[in-house]
Amino acid sequence: MDRRIAGSIMQDLQYLGAQMDSSGSLQQKVTCLFLCAGQQETARHTESVVQWALRLADQFEADPESAATAAWLHDVSKVWSPTTQLEAAPLLGIDILPEERKAPSLIHQKISRVFAEALFDIDSPEILNAIRCHTTSRPGASRLDDITVVADKLSWQPGQAPFRRHMEKALETSLRAAVFVYLNYLWANRSEIPAVHPQMAEAYRELSRDFAPGQGPLSQV
Ligand SMILES: [Fe+2]
Ligand SMILES: [Fe+2]
Repeated sequence: MDRRIAGSIMQDLQYLGAQMDSSGSLQQKVTCLFLCAGQQETARHTESVVQWALRLADQFEADPESAATAAWLHDVSKVWSPTTQLEAAPLLGIDILPEERKAPSLIHQKISRVFAEALFDIDSPEILNAIRCHTTSRPGASRLDDITVVADKLSWQPGQAPFRRHMEKALETSLRAAVFVYLNYLWANRSEIPAVHPQMAEAYRELSRDFAPGQGPLSQV
């Protein structure tokens, strides 16, 4: 990588850290970061994700503090553009998959995980994992992973989430079924999306066994 780019990315990371009042709450720090970066819409979206995460944690008996923390931090790397995130990934020790190169927005879940650890001192593997798979889910997902995925999708703008009604219906009985609604939507529309992330495909295959019996395994992924 060009040393100038590397230097400016590390400088920017330090700058971001300096913007936050270390005595402030997590909400204050994250909101401050988004507003400093001109990301009002991401700040609003994140508040909605937190509200949904708390609601789902209550419904499905998960730890509300962990759910809220993962929700506050899930999109924090969006202060960087997808291009900057791709440039920064190797510096942060992140491997870039071919699918993430093809669809750069997919990398933000990995970068947010690093931000959570480096800028917000989060050391809970459960919270860091939930942040790291909030876009794609993953095989063997935890309850906190599922809460973060579903809270995020329910906070998308109505036009971005045509699966929303089915997801809310599924939530009446099962959190896993709600994740399947999202993955099933992605899979059904896979020819329309820039890339099928392998983690998403594996998670879809796993959930298909429980929620789409009779459709058979997906062998060609
Ligand atoms: Fe996200
Ligand atoms: Fe999000």
